[in-house]
Amino acid sequence: MSTRTVSATLVSMALGCVMGLTGCSRAPAAPPAATPAVTPAATAISEGETPGAAPTAQDGTSAVPTSPPTRIEAAPTEEPAFVQAREAMVVQQIERRGVSNPAVLHAMRAVARHRFVPEDYVGQAYNDHPLPIGYGQTISQPYIVAWMTELLELESDYRVLELGTGSGYQAAVLAEIVAEVYTIEIVPELEESARIRLRELGYENIQVLRADGYWGWPEHAPFDAIIVTAAPDHVPLALAQQLEEGAHLVIPIGPPGGYQSLWQFTHADGELSAREISGVRFVPFTREE
Ligand SMILES: C[S@@+](CC[C@H](N)C(=O)[O-])C[C@H]1O[C@@H](n2cnc3c(N)ncnc32)[C@H](O)[C@@H]1O
Repeated sequence: MSTRTVSATLVSMALGCVMGLTGCSRAPAAPPAATPAVTPAATAISEGETPGAAPTAQDGTSAVPTSPPTRIEAAPTEEPAFVQAREAMVVQQIERRGVSNPAVLHAMRAVARHRFVPEDYVGQAYNDHPLPIGYGQTISQPYIVAWMTELLELESDYRVLELGTGSGYQAAVLAEIVAEVYTIEIVPELEESARIRLRELGYENIQVLRADGYWGWPEHAPFDAIIVTAAPDHVPLALAQQLEEGAHLVIPIGPPGGYQSLWQFTHADGELSAREISGVRFVPFTREE
């Protein structure tokens, strides 16, 4: 991995990025050693996929993979089975691939992922791939949730913005770590179900908004970290403007329907530096007409 500090000011950098990422903040031409080449999709789905980024082939290359290491064949009915599956998920899928931040690992152990998936998929909740949540959307692969969370470099007193609430799972993981989470979802039905679910689960430090996240959430800005869980083809200007000094923006950027690059931007001294992390595959960041 490598970092390149962008010489323009924060605003002009962001304006440049509005025009598209290439040529504005891409990391040096030679790909960093830890940045794998993006490989063609073998299967149709979808999101949270990290081609070549991990030491195993279990990165969510399919919604229904053939042999996930922690597959639960039948939906367990007792909580101990879920706890066991979650522990296996953390050890085999997340720690083994290099995520080591204790707060992130604790959060991944704490959040009951099976409460965030549709009933039909409860038996696969801790498997190593994304799952459908309706409306053409997905809950991300556990590993990529943990990895993106780690890249935010969170502190317990932080206020974090997420774009793409989906099921609410990523928001819940964040809420286990930081003081306040603000999350925006564009699909009304998903926003409503996530809001209800998070309230039922007792997450009082999460606020959910139904909106086009392209504009961020200015009323609560600036944020100590911003995470985007759908892929736009450029950095929305508002997000760059709503980053606190020292804050990271973790965001997949690239063409809809293809592979994208995961980026970690950092706002420091009025500038944004950009680090290209890996090839990923996310659902498209959609816009309100
Ligand atoms: C991969 S899913 C998110 C998964 C989610 N973070 C979770 O933990 O379940 C991406 C989400 O981004 C939402 N989305 C897409 N474009 C958006 C936008 N402009 N503003 C807000 N949400 C958006 C989609 O509707 C979808 O729910």
